[in-house]
Amino acid sequence: MSATAGWTATVLTLFPEMFPGPLGASLPGKALDDGAWALETVDIRDFARDKHRTVDDSPFGGGAGMVMRADVLDAAIGAAMAANPDATLIYLSPRGRRFDQPRARELAAGSGVILLCGRYEGVDERILDERRIEEVSIGDFVLSGGEPAAMILIDACVRLLPGVVGKEESLTEESFERGLLEYPHYTRPQEWNGRAVPEVLTSGHHEKVRAWRQEQAERVTKERRPDLWDRYVKSRKQDAGPGSAG
Ligand code: ADE
Repeated sequence: MSATAGWTATVLTLFPEMFPGPLGASLPGKALDDGAWALETVDIRDFARDKHRTVDDSPFGGGAGMVMRADVLDAAIGAAMAANPDATLIYLSPRGRRFDQPRARELAAGSGVILLCGRYEGVDERILDERRIEEVSIGDFVLSGGEPAAMILIDACVRLLPGVVGKEESLTEESFERGLLEYPHYTRPQEWNGRAVPEVLTSGHHEKVRAWRQEQAERVTKERRPDLWDRYVKSRKQDAGPGSAG
């Protein structure tokens, strides 16, 4: 693989030592070593303006916690954008739009991301307005900071970069890529703890295996994720077009 890293993730954080963390291991770690992507961290504290390196202050109107200052964040974002002007600017926050596989694909197709990680109660709203920052959430729960969310977003994008995941089909078959959750997998031993592998998988009949997997993917999706199942059924009807028997 070439050593020219196109896709770059720049993380703005108060805890640069958290990176690469899990992104330095396994598939994203190997891709990082191979130069398939690049990781930069920007220490927000380096952009503080006082000798105490203050990055936050108490909220106007009162209330618990501290808010990260717009002026400090603006300086940090400016530095990150100068190095990667075409990257998509994102603030990780539970208030954001839910991250999903289509968004991961869009971001992976771009030139990279600049990810702002908040701590404390959050960031001064004016920085989000001023810089038109997209807010992204990784789910309906609250983390103690945006860093783990940034790692998750980066991991989901990096594995979609060309050449990072070996066989093309291992991407197209997996959960969400076809609008369904993935079918169950089995390997040796053929019988374990009294549990046999479904017979069809050892039949050598490729068409039957394909049909069984499709059936299983549909069953699992219907049972576990009725929201995905509804969307899948609707998109299938659309693909079939008007006048089809459905
Ligand atoms: N920061 C804190 N909680 C978060 C979440 N659920 N998603 C993204 N960033 C966050």
